[in-house]
This record gives sequence, structure tokens and C-alpha cells, in this order.
Amino acid sequence: MTVARSGRFAEGRAPSFITLNSSLALDWRLWREDIEGSTAHARALRGAGVLSAQELEAIETGLAAVGREIEAGEFVPGDADEDVHMAVERRLTELIGDAGARLHTARSRNDQVVTDVRLHLRRVVERQDAALAGLQRVLLERAGDHVTTVMPAYTHLQRAQVTSLAQHLLAYFWMLDRDRERLAAAREACLELPLGAGAAVGLDFDVDRQAVAGELGFARVAENSLDAVASRDFVVDYLAAAAQIGTHLSRLGGELVLWATSEFGFVRLPDAFSGGSSIMPQKKNPDAAELMRAAAPRLAADLGGLLGVLHGLPLAYNTDLREDKRYLFDAVDCLDAILPVVAGLLEGVVFDKARMAAACDPYLAATDVADYLVEKGVPFREAHHLTGALVRRCLDAGEPLVQVPLDELRTLSPVFDDGYYALHDAAAQLARKASRGGSSPARVREQLELAHAALEARLAG
Ligand code: ARG
Repeated sequence: MTVARSGRFAEGRAPSFITLNSSLALDWRLWREDIEGSTAHARALRGAGVLSAQELEAIETGLAAVGREIEAGEFVPGDADEDVHMAVERRLTELIGDAGARLHTARSRNDQVVTDVRLHLRRVVERQDAALAGLQRVLLERAGDHVTTVMPAYTHLQRAQVTSLAQHLLAYFWMLDRDRERLAAAREACLELPLGAGAAVGLDFDVDRQAVAGELGFARVAENSLDAVASRDFVVDYLAAAAQIGTHLSRLGGELVLWATSEFGFVRLPDAFSGGSSIMPQKKNPDAAELMRAAAPRLAADLGGLLGVLHGLPLAYNTDLREDKRYLFDAVDCLDAILPVVAGLLEGVVFDKARMAAACDPYLAATDVADYLVEKGVPFREAHHLTGALVRRCLDAGEPLVQVPLDELRTLSPVFDDGYYALHDAAAQLARKASRGGSSPARVREQLELAHAALEARLAG
């Protein structure tokens, strides 16, 4: 198939090249922003004296009509349309004739596409930020009910010391808080207007770029035309934020997978977010949590993919840049799909407080014992050694720490007294972690307040 093309070419494009070169599959979702950007551009052309009032009116009405047709599914781009920009312009010109053919004055697809992407991405970021805020709200709610629910904290996935479920859930709250800060920075990076850069070097027409920026909601104009069309660092900013979100969600997903095992038994996952087995009738699989875990490499690959496209690329526009949307939209779709599932999982997960408490084994008090000896004046290294010996003695005897009689403790160190026996209750261990940011119920209540304030502040800001 050959299609009409510019006077430069004697021959049509090869079908295989048409297929390869079409970016419609990548950029069709930008149609709304393409129409918005084109409308603002047409107004700027009128301001520069390029369009008459009637031509502007025809373009504005025509672009609105194209938008309605696309929305209604009446206009569908064809094989011959290389990208969303060509498709919208073609349809406009079919609808309004001559005036449509003037729209692309003082504009290139090079500044057009990156304007569309910036407009679009800003909206995506706002939507996904709201979804993250929703996750934070669920985490706060669940944490609020579990300030005194004891569970082991792990290091090296070995039981370490007592913490609370609230403290554990709040750790994820703060990760998401920082992710939202990254998203806010990515949103801010979107707010620079490329339009007016032309293909690479600027325009022969005096368009009011500041007015276009204002109309489209950009905060400022790009100050260098080559930079404007060549740069995609605002997409990198988003993909880096997305990759980090993915990494955080993968740790939460990974923990839910672990906690849902019979071995841990800390949680029961909601049926609505669990899968079955095609052969083993008893199985309930944590598919949603596993997919949370699996989103991380995908998002990291999207970031790596775009960095690869940009690496060593000469200024200014190159068709390689078209691939920005492959990585960008893959990440957007990945997060759009996963975020509601995370919310559902967190809302529906049932925590087994008894299993968590039972996992606080009699040896978790060891550090508290060492600290207790320190409080009695023993140097920490010595206290650590003494307590280690005590633990070994109890392990050998198959006895919990709490059962060692006082006279035997005193053979280890004369400073032991009755206070030793109060250390072995998990709630007591929890209460002792009273440093700022620590797990004690008092500190966690304080932290909950701070978290609520942080959530509101980001929403407002
Ligand atoms: N469709 C292209 C993209 O997505 C825009 C066209 C750039 N200009 C060009 N002469 N190929 O980046």
C-alpha cells in the first residue's frame, strides 16, 4: 500500500516500514492533549497574525468536533496516519478544509509531541498520587487498630525484637510519603512548555509562548529550543518515582506472601484477591501479593529502557525518542492496574494477632536483658556476652529465659534482681522502645498523629 506523501518523495512508503514507523499504538491515548495543545497553538497563531478570526474559529470548532468523534468512537485513525498528531490534523482538515491546513504553521511534531506528553503525564501523576494517598489512608486506619498488637521484628529474617503491627504498617506509610514527594517533583518537572521550539531551533513567527503556557497550565516555557524537543528527563523523573514505588510495593507484597504461608500464618488474604489451583483443590494462592512483588522489575525495566534510549543520543529530536512512550505508558498502566489491588488487599487482609504474639518467642527479650544489665551499670559489651551465655544455657536446657532462677542468674552477675522477670512479657518489651520513632505504643500514637498531618499536608500542597 502506498499513501499520499509530501512532494519530497517520488515513491510511497513500503508497507513494512509503515507498520514499523506507526506510533499510533503508542500515542493514540494522547488525543485529548493533542487537541488541547492544538487549540492553544491556534490561538497563538491568531495572536501572531497568522490566522484570521474566521480561521481560528473554524479550527476551534473543528478540533472540538474531532474530540467528540474520537470520544464517541466514530473517528478511528487508519494505517496511513503515522501518529496521533497526523491523525487529528487529517481529520480536522477533512472536516474544515483550508483552515485546517494552516494549523501546523510554526509548529513541528517534535515540539508538539513532547507538549502532549507533558500535559498527559501531569494528569497521570495527579491521579496516581491520589491513589497513593488512598493507600496511605488505609495503612493509617489499619495501623490505628494495632498499636499494641505485638509481633517480632526481623533482621536477616530471624526473629529479632518485639515490635507492633502498627509500627510495621507505618513503615510502609512513610515509604509512600516519600514516593509522593518524588511524584510531586515529577509533576513539577512536567510544567515546562516546549511548544514554540519548532522542529529544533525556534520559529520565524512571533507567537506568545507565555500565553500558550498559561492557557495550558504550564508554569513556565522551555528557554532553549533544542533542549525543549530533545529532553525527556521529566519522563525519567516519573519513571524513577514509579520504579521506587514498585520497589516499595514489592517489599509489602513479598511480606504478604510470606505472612500468608502456613509457616508464618500472620495473615489471611481476602478471597477476592486470591487465586486457586487448577489441580490442588485446597490451595489458596496469594496471586495479588505476588503480582505486587513482580511489578517492581517491570517498572525498573521501564526506567532502564528510557535511559537506554536517551544514552548518547545526539541533539535534538531523533525518532528513537518516540520510544519514550513505550516505557512511560507501560509504567503508567502497570501502576494503574496494581494500585487498586493493593488498596483492596490492605483493606481486606485479616491479621492473626494470636499467631503474631506466639511468634514473639521467649528469646526476643535477650536485648532487653542486656539493656537491663546496662541500666545496672554493666558495660554493654559485657552485658551482651553475659546474656549470650544465658541464652545458650537456656537453649541447651530447652527452657525459656524467664525460667532461670535468680540464684543461678546471680552466679552470672550479682546485679540481677527480681526486675529480670518483668522483662519477659512482650508488651513490656514493646513499652520499653520509647525512643523517638520507636515501637512503644506511646511513640506509635505520636507517629500516627504525625502521619495524619503529613497525609493532609501533601494533599493540601
Ligand atoms: N510520533 C513522533 C513521536 O512520538 C513524533 C513525530 C516526530 N517528528 C518526526 N519528524 N518524526 O515522537
